[in-house]
Amino acid sequence: MNATATQMLGTGAADIARAATLLSQGRLVAMPTETVYGLAADACNDAAVAAIYAAKGRPSSNPLIVHVSDLAMAGDYVDFTPIARDMAQAFWPGPLTLVLPLRSGTSLSDRVTAGLSTLAVRMPETPAARALIQSLGRPLAAPSANPSGKVSPTTAAHVMAGLGGKIAAIIDAGPCQIGLESTIIGFEGGPTLLRPGGLPHEAIERMLDQPLRATSIVTDRPNAPGQLASHYAPDAALRLNATSAEPNEVLLGFGPIAGTQTLSASGDLAEAAACLFDRLRSLDATGATRIAVAPIPDKGLGRAINDRLRRAAAPRD
Ligand code: TXA
Ligand code: MG
Repeated sequence: MNATATQMLGTGAADIARAATLLSQGRLVAMPTETVYGLAADACNDAAVAAIYAAKGRPSSNPLIVHVSDLAMAGDYVDFTPIARDMAQAFWPGPLTLVLPLRSGTSLSDRVTAGLSTLAVRMPETPAARALIQSLGRPLAAPSANPSGKVSPTTAAHVMAGLGGKIAAIIDAGPCQIGLESTIIGFEGGPTLLRPGGLPHEAIERMLDQPLRATSIVTDRPNAPGQLASHYAPDAALRLNATSAEPNEVLLGFGPIAGTQTLSASGDLAEAAACLFDRLRSLDATGATRIAVAPIPDKGLGRAINDRLRRAAAPRD
């Protein structure tokens, strides 16, 4: 594919219409969501979905999340169990992805599911994302809009830095409010937490009135969500649960542990989630080779923050 200039678009009606036209032509558009920016393609266009994998350098065995604008659109592609429907009604639109049996005979590209019999679906909250899906009239396949293995983007500038020249356009809606990818729930053998994320698992357990089953966070099965141990990685090496910096380290603080930078001086987990990926990027940009990170409580959004930090700290391939 030839390098193209990547157009920066806003969220006005004309720009959303322009982005929908590009998608209908099989082009790729990065879209804002409340979690992270996604790299979107028409989920029913096989060549467009193939272009997502090419632009990211993503293994074709790693399936994509499909984004819908309403529950009815999701029901065209997956079969909801009663519990799954209750969860969608409670938490959509929002940072929750449901993995459900794929209906047969849909026009969805086979590449979206990488051959699995299940499909991951989510209804994003960000108005520009839903307006874009409505304007196209079909679901959008969208992984996070970063080169495979790198930190997810939470601003349009992050997307441009990673994928500029490889995609048609980016819709800039400012920084993502949540800053961590969606929580993923599967239903095989009962409701199961497949990836901790922007919706705290405690909120789901309260709604279900039962604990979620958990899968091993680190796995080497390529088709499992969250995939490999090393992921979401900055260039610098990470050391976790640090209370002070060694001489060759910069310290990323939290709460009472102040650092070169902090995730949240007041110890607020939502604030820490929203700036986590940006802080890792900006510490990388200083040329630091080692980042020490203060301990983060493992509850609420802290569970997902610690998951991403562990992946960022894992040994590299
Ligand atoms: O917040 C998010 O979820 C963002 C925004 C853009 O929506 N998207 C995102 O996509 O994080 P991605 O591709 O970076 O991560 C999706 C994860 C992958 O680990 C993939 O393996 C898993 O979801 N996944 C997708 N389809 C699946 C399926 N049918 N069964 C199990 N896991 C699946
Ligand atoms: Mg990703």
